[in-house]
Amino acid sequence: MPCKVVVGAQWGDEGKGKITDLLAETANVVVRYQGGSNAGHTVVAGGETFKLHLIPSGILHEDVLSVMADGTVIDPHCLAEEYQGLQARGVSCRNLRISGNAHVIMPYHSRLDALQEEARGRVSIGTTRRGIGPVYTDKTARMPQPVRMWDLLDESVLRQRVAGQLAEKNKVFGVLYGVPPMDPDEVVAEVMQHVPVFAHCITDTRTLVAAQHRAGATIVLEGAQGTFLDLDYGTYPYVTSSHPVAGGACLGTGIGPTAIDSVTIVCKSYSTRVGAGAFPTEQANPDGDLIRERGREYGTTTGRPRRCGWLDGVALRTSAQINSATGLAITMLDVLNPFPSIRICTAYEIDGERYEMMPGNLELLARATPIYEELPGWGQEVSDCRKLADLPENARRYVERMAEIAETPVEMVSVGPGREQTLLD
Ligand code: GDP
Ligand code: IMO
Ligand code: MG
Repeated sequence: MPCKVVVGAQWGDEGKGKITDLLAETANVVVRYQGGSNAGHTVVAGGETFKLHLIPSGILHEDVLSVMADGTVIDPHCLAEEYQGLQARGVSCRNLRISGNAHVIMPYHSRLDALQEEARGRVSIGTTRRGIGPVYTDKTARMPQPVRMWDLLDESVLRQRVAGQLAEKNKVFGVLYGVPPMDPDEVVAEVMQHVPVFAHCITDTRTLVAAQHRAGATIVLEGAQGTFLDLDYGTYPYVTSSHPVAGGACLGTGIGPTAIDSVTIVCKSYSTRVGAGAFPTEQANPDGDLIRERGREYGTTTGRPRRCGWLDGVALRTSAQINSATGLAITMLDVLNPFPSIRICTAYEIDGERYEMMPGNLELLARATPIYEELPGWGQEVSDCRKLADLPENARRYVERMAEIAETPVEMVSVGPGREQTLLD
């Protein structure tokens, strides 16, 4: 049965939450495969808005298993808050399963993230300060006392691990940053108070998902962040510390590469980015401001204004290739309604040469000048369209041009945050 991956084609916030929720309607399992509470995925259902950071965007469908896989990193405070927040709004969360192998973001990770960002000064990454870099660092460094979700089930194990971790971290806090040490008992108490909320969900999810797959379940693998925030494929070092690309969907989820049937790349009809790093098509001008206001482009997690610009076709084309995309989900088409003409960057000029793909050497990207083509706008509301055929001709041409650049067929077009504002054919 189908196994589908949903990936952000750009720098995050493309509308993955909305698309995942839609695909979940016909799925049995939704798996969030990486990242942590740096993500903010919005699902609008029945006129209500749900902002999810950790819990998969299929959670509103109570008959669909919602799985947080091994590759995610979990802040217990954030998870408990999100879980209880959903319950308070009538979402039972009884379909949630959490990998015991997922690493735990401990209070010392978020503290370290903030201290590292401060110390970087002018060259800070602009992280969400949720502890993402430090926890993945510990994971890959194979620290002797890592805390994984299993460890929260036995306070004496947790206590031992926190003592081991803080023996090292407190030296870093004192010597490198001149801040007071953290008290192991306080750290354990802070974390343990949240555990009863979700302890019953912790399990071996990779075996669970593999069994579901063998039994013929339809599975949606939900990525967080986006292709150009990927640790390897992104605009390093201005990236996150995990693998949002489609390849990342096979890491610890219980699904291997040949089991994946389709990859939907989600792409806005323009570009945004939060935090520092290259962004060739950025418009720090009234055009960018209009996009920001119409698209409400302020971070779901941090509230920061997002940097806005025209669609970067070079990034889209590269993303389609990196992710082996089989379908394109275009979002936010309605945001472009008022523009009399709309620009798409179809290539970069770098040192007198034309580039149609994102260069691997990021030194070059810093010198990229976008080469634009201009398409006529449609100057009318599209958010009430329900079929592709309902779109004004110029909007259809814009959509077709995006598909041509991505060399990927259009799977859906989103014209508003609501489920019903999605054009499938
Ligand atoms: P994600 O991180 O990829 O899930 O995306 P976010 O939730 O951070 O940001 C997308 C925002 O755009 C959310 O507020 C969505 O409700 C909203 N959204 C999604 N699709 C559309 C669309 O087609 N048009 C408009 N106007 N808003 C949309
Ligand atoms: P969703 O899943 C947009 C950005 C941060 C920063 C960089 C590194 O909602 O699309 P981190 O805290 O991960 O170490 O920050 O990555 N970033 C995101 N930008 N959407 C996200 O998630 C992001 N998650 C991280 O702004 O530039
Ligand atoms: Mg987001």
